[in-house]
Amino acid sequence: MPKPKVLITRRVHPDALRRVEEHAEVDVWTEDRPMPREELLKRVGSVEGLYTMLTDRVDEELLERAPHLRVVSNMAVGYDNIDVDACTRRGIPVGHTPGVLTDTTADLAFALILAAARRLVEGVDYVRAGHWHTWSPDLLLGYDVYGATLGILGLGRIAAAVARRAQGFGMRVLYTSRRQHEETEAALGIHRVDLDTLLREADILSIHTPLTPETYHLIGETELRRMKPTAILVNTARGGVVDPDALYRALKEGWIAYAALDVTEPEPIPADHPLLRLPNCIVLPHIGSATHATRRRMALMAAENLLAGLRGEPLPHCVNCAQLGGPYDH
Ligand code: DGY
Repeated sequence: MPKPKVLITRRVHPDALRRVEEHAEVDVWTEDRPMPREELLKRVGSVEGLYTMLTDRVDEELLERAPHLRVVSNMAVGYDNIDVDACTRRGIPVGHTPGVLTDTTADLAFALILAAARRLVEGVDYVRAGHWHTWSPDLLLGYDVYGATLGILGLGRIAAAVARRAQGFGMRVLYTSRRQHEETEAALGIHRVDLDTLLREADILSIHTPLTPETYHLIGETELRRMKPTAILVNTARGGVVDPDALYRALKEGWIAYAALDVTEPEPIPADHPLLRLPNCIVLPHIGSATHATRRRMALMAAENLLAGLRGEPLPHCVNCAQLGGPYDH
């Protein structure tokens, strides 16, 4: 039996590549940039399995060009780059990588909270620029994290892991979410409030909601104006949840104090973007899950999802398997 053809859209961990190669004929895009769209559309024509990154758009157009496709496996927990409904209509399961990046991403969210509240990046820049001539009583004053109120927007795994870290800092934690999470509330002593209360009460607002049509620009001018002038906004979820023009004005005009973003809209953010000129805005290049161990785990999990799909079995971590029903009949 010939091995099924698979396209992997970026260089992934060698253990994951080896695993896929055991069972499939693999085409890998090895350049240090996402596959150009035209190239991707060209190469999907003959593949049965597609192993994607969050930078690849899997939409109707791509699916039209991929008549043999039987599984899409995204090496990310988020899958807003994939038109899941379009995949479901074609009976194509979509895999993702939940769980394995939770603590790594929560660590980064907390690093951003601390970096913003205590103005770490400004401090580093200050020293590097040779401005540090003496100790000053009012140099780079920031905000206390311990004892502050953390507002969590969207209570998934990563948000709960951030809330766990907040316990160690004696923080009061509020969250808003479509549903009540009684168990997490009891375990972590956190409380559900409506969005308005969250915005008004949070000293630090940490965004953890996936990007969907409902959450696109959920945080815009109205919401930012409701926040405290001393508030810090942290986003490690998806850039599109925050309106960047409103955020720029909020930071420039002092509606809020600081923003720390691991994700932006657009992504990558252009080097001349106005947000990057603000001293009270930290931007990282979407590295929430970027540790050696976690990226290996993600790559392996995506490999297992892909291989299960090629075998016609339910994916271990599947976005649309419930909609597709039992084992797939290809
Ligand atoms: C994800 O997995 O969705 C992150 O944004 C990248 O690790």
